[in-house]
Amino acid sequence: MYSNSQIHNYQASTQQFLQMLTNTEAVLPKVEDLRSVLRFHEHRYYVLSEPLINDEDYDKLYKLLEAVEKAHPEIITKDSPTQRVGTSLNSGFETVQHLVPMLSLENSYNSDDLLDWDRKVKELCGLDNIEYCVEPKFDGASISLIYEHDMLVRAATRGDGVAGDDITNNIKQIRSIPLSANFSQYGIQQIEIRGEVVMTKAAFDTYNEGLVAQGLSPLANPRNAASGSLRMKDPKEVARRNLEAFLYHVSYYANSQLSIVHDSAAKTDSEILLLGGVGASHSGALQLLWNLGFRSPQKEKKVVLGIEAVIQYVNEFEALRDTLPYEIDGMVIKVNDVALQDKLGMTTHHPRWAIAFKFKARQATTKLRGIEFQVGRTGAVTPVAKLDPVQVGGVTVSSISVHNEEYIKEKDLQINDTVVIERAGDVIPQIVKSLPELRDGLQTPIVFVKECPSCNQPLIKDEAEAVWRCVNGNCTEQLMLAIIHFVSKDAMDIKSFGEANVRRFYKMGLLADIPSVYTLDFDKLSNQKGIGAKSIDNLKDAIEASKIQPLHRLIYGLGIRFVGENTAKVLANYVSNIFEFASKTEEDLQLLDDVGVKVAKSIYEYFSNNKNTAMLRQLEGLGLQLVNTKKDAIAEGGLAGQTFLFTGTLNKLKRNDAEALAEQQGGKIVSGVSSKLNYLVVGDDAGSKLEKAKKINTIKIISEDEFLALVNTNKQA
Ligand code: IVH
Repeated sequence: MYSNSQIHNYQASTQQFLQMLTNTEAVLPKVEDLRSVLRFHEHRYYVLSEPLINDEDYDKLYKLLEAVEKAHPEIITKDSPTQRVGTSLNSGFETVQHLVPMLSLENSYNSDDLLDWDRKVKELCGLDNIEYCVEPKFDGASISLIYEHDMLVRAATRGDGVAGDDITNNIKQIRSIPLSANFSQYGIQQIEIRGEVVMTKAAFDTYNEGLVAQGLSPLANPRNAASGSLRMKDPKEVARRNLEAFLYHVSYYANSQLSIVHDSAAKTDSEILLLGGVGASHSGALQLLWNLGFRSPQKEKKVVLGIEAVIQYVNEFEALRDTLPYEIDGMVIKVNDVALQDKLGMTTHHPRWAIAFKFKARQATTKLRGIEFQVGRTGAVTPVAKLDPVQVGGVTVSSISVHNEEYIKEKDLQINDTVVIERAGDVIPQIVKSLPELRDGLQTPIVFVKECPSCNQPLIKDEAEAVWRCVNGNCTEQLMLAIIHFVSKDAMDIKSFGEANVRRFYKMGLLADIPSVYTLDFDKLSNQKGIGAKSIDNLKDAIEASKIQPLHRLIYGLGIRFVGENTAKVLANYVSNIFEFASKTEEDLQLLDDVGVKVAKSIYEYFSNNKNTAMLRQLEGLGLQLVNTKKDAIAEGGLAGQTFLFTGTLNKLKRNDAEALAEQQGGKIVSGVSSKLNYLVVGDDAGSKLEKAKKINTIKIISEDEFLALVNTNKQA
């Protein structure tokens, strides 16, 4: 895909741009190079899954591009990587006609079905053997993309197959879909590509956890989650859902005159090339899409001769099903030769040249024997069904969360019921339904507890929620879970602590709340079985190291309701010091990215609770860093709106650090002396810039020390 020298060049440019982060003016003439570098890294990450840069550096380059474009809006191009982020909400979706109807596929369920289909295909083609392309049947939401003059101009859902919803803004959030692609090199001016948007199993699980935490019912499968996501009003919300897209079919294209030519009409070399090079094959079209940067099933597909080989590959792939990061519900078998596809044609419902092979649903039946209630970190009490152990999709399942009271009612569950279970999203098993017709008189209704299973205090049900909650601030289980969350990998990352140790130390009376993590009595630990001097040292070091974790980790670790890792980052960036939240109103907080009404309320309530501020003061006293050392204070810094230029050799600061200091307080670095410059900071041996600046009255010429004084004064202000 990329030659070594191309990779080398991209990597070299990456490093160059990383050196230019504070110098947007110097980047300006190279802005298109910067865009290609970003596109290169997006493609490596989202399409090839072989990233060559870490997220942090990628973000820096992305912000650099944003800064350059912000300073010079006239240079923004429609396919700039920054143009994915939708600014306005979708106000309903316009219905758009598909240029060619989006047909469905005929289904097959076993090898006999496939043999029958192959017989028909051979008969209609008048051939003894057929070349097939076999690829996964992605379980998501189908989409159609239209590119005109190399630019993505429209994306639509399948709808009823004839017309769908225009979801262009939302589709632009999916980073594996290029905003532009070089079709014009083949003389193609308009092209329609079909594919599937999927949500990965991991993203689906995270999404469902979020729903359940809010007392909502989880979605049944990643397919529903993907199609729901495509209809979100807010494109930013779509971006957060981590969707991916596979493109598997070119349905038509038009050349020079923009007249629509159905793919069967391929005649010229470029048209044949588009459809797959010599012989115009489906696999060639997949290759071509791949070459142009699309995520086609290039690696997953296999071209085989004859139906026996198809059956073999389908079985091989089914065995891999559980190891894939996304859901597939079968395989699609396509006649590979496009000329034969045309010969076979289609019915009103499906093409005759393709068939879906559906995998067996991974379901099983078992008995529901009882319900156990668990209290979570936020006090929500979750019922967990205890089952007779049963195998589904390769794993043994013996308990399944049934979420809340509503869910139990909806699924009509009783103790001793026979239930159908399924591994939705392949990861978390769910109860699909009960089988009331198999009831034998031994069933008893599920009675929801009214008291906390940990502290026995009465549960409270919020009118707006489906969840019963324990609101006892001293509930042992909740306190332990709060500490477990605080020390966890994504929060303060206190290695060698872990859930088991938290529970153990808590029961020994060594832990009581979050601050007690920092006052742990190591002497008492040293007498304990299985805890050696080495582990105590490790624990000490890890606890000590956590004191300087970045602020966003601490905010996330506090376990404020609805504040996930992303929101924690936004919040950390918003303040210089955690105590500033005490003076923020709900309205202030709602202005932040990622913070809606509900989240703002929760944050506001957390910081207006004296108990919480007292705890934070306690943490501060114990030596934790509660300030944002890397605050990105562009808009509100004391130097906002002021421009700076450094010239000559600085003695105390490196040039980059000096520029960063000015920027941290909202200052902007410019590259040349003009009337727009506010401060020229002069080091040793300053030359022509100083001379030029002296001629412009409005420029303040200051020394390095004066600059430092200025920065410090503003910091205190
Ligand atoms: S080919 C005319 N290939 O399955 C071509 N479809 O049940 C029609 N699907 O509507 C589609 N993976 O949304 C094709 N590799 C694949 C597919 C695929 C998933 C979906 C597609 C279609 C549905 C039919």
